[in-house]
Amino acid sequence: MKLSELETPRLILERGKLEQNVRTMREHMGRLGVPLRPHGKTAKCIDVIRLALEGQPGGITVSTLKEAEYYFGHGIKDLLYAVGIAPVKLDHIAKLRKEGAEITIILDSMEQAQVAATYGKKHDETFPVLIELDSDGHRSGLTPADPELIGIGRFLHDTKGVELKGVLTHAGGSYGAKAIDEIKKAAVQERDVAVACAQLLRAAGLPCPVVSVGSTPTATYAEDLAGVTEVRAGVYMFFDLVMAGLGVCAIEDMAISVLTSVIGYQKKKGWVITDAGWMAMSRDRGTSRQTTDQGYGIVCSVDGTPIPDYIVDSTNQEHGIIVRRDGGAMDFNRFPIGSLLRILPNHACATATMHDRYHVVNRTDDVIDVWQRVHGW
Ligand SMILES: Cc1ncc(COP(=O)(O)O)c(C=O)c1O
Repeated sequence: MKLSELETPRLILERGKLEQNVRTMREHMGRLGVPLRPHGKTAKCIDVIRLALEGQPGGITVSTLKEAEYYFGHGIKDLLYAVGIAPVKLDHIAKLRKEGAEITIILDSMEQAQVAATYGKKHDETFPVLIELDSDGHRSGLTPADPELIGIGRFLHDTKGVELKGVLTHAGGSYGAKAIDEIKKAAVQERDVAVACAQLLRAAGLPCPVVSVGSTPTATYAEDLAGVTEVRAGVYMFFDLVMAGLGVCAIEDMAISVLTSVIGYQKKKGWVITDAGWMAMSRDRGTSRQTTDQGYGIVCSVDGTPIPDYIVDSTNQEHGIIVRRDGGAMDFNRFPIGSLLRILPNHACATATMHDRYHVVNRTDDVIDVWQRVHGW
């Protein structure tokens, strides 16, 4: 099948760029001496995760139990479910664990620890647990100053039904960095908080074998990960315009795009209209908070070459509206009706999840594979 014969909109994945991104991160982590536990939430696709796991111990991170079930079904046993545990999910996790999935959960409150322990005792299950830490104030987690840290650690260690495995933090605040220096500082802070909490637990006589950190910006710019035992990053496999805006990748590194057809114009307004609306791109406007707002995405020619003067300025459900970024006159001859374009997305996780599969291409016009994605919870 040819790329130019696909019905639109379709999600396109460039295999060469994916392989390069995965290799770059693997080599960087190799230099720092820390293994990757790649996050499966961006790709939601076993074929992508197999590439990311090359040379790694084999465990992955997931953001939904549907992902856990899917990846386990494809042979990955060591799964870290990295969203604070909700009691209603314990049945599902216990079922997967009974089938052989080694699922670790995370929590940051005594209430969650007690619920998990009570469930574990009642159902003859022992849940491995990481305590979630807050390294930058962007989401959940305990800080080194929180007195509950040791109390929860001791409870997890001493109580049947649960087992203290270590600590985890995600420097999601790094997405708001304004300069590379800030990302570097976020990487240091992420490591320092995780290592400090691990040391506090150990000083209290508790085990803390796992010290888990990771976001794509901080993983990319980390210079020293002493004390860290694994790095979870996900979006680096594909990259996106938010990462490019942060300086974490180049626009040319982006491995996914949405193939779209030109379906009309509003010539007086300077608009080219396509069939990639927000259902194909997602509603994510992550670059709106960055120095360069990329609208709903940068326009590329069908071979994937960016035409940075043109962006998708607005979307309806099934319509995208392309304008010239500088408001100048549109060259409509460049966009005949039915011609194909590719749009680079703001946020790879959000755009990919609008699609059920990837059409995988190399630098030629050939679609070399179709890779399915998992969806939902
Ligand atoms: C808990 C956790 N770990 C790791 C990651 C991976 O971060 P990134 O997508 O920046 O690679 C995420 C992303 O949201 C996350 O929530």
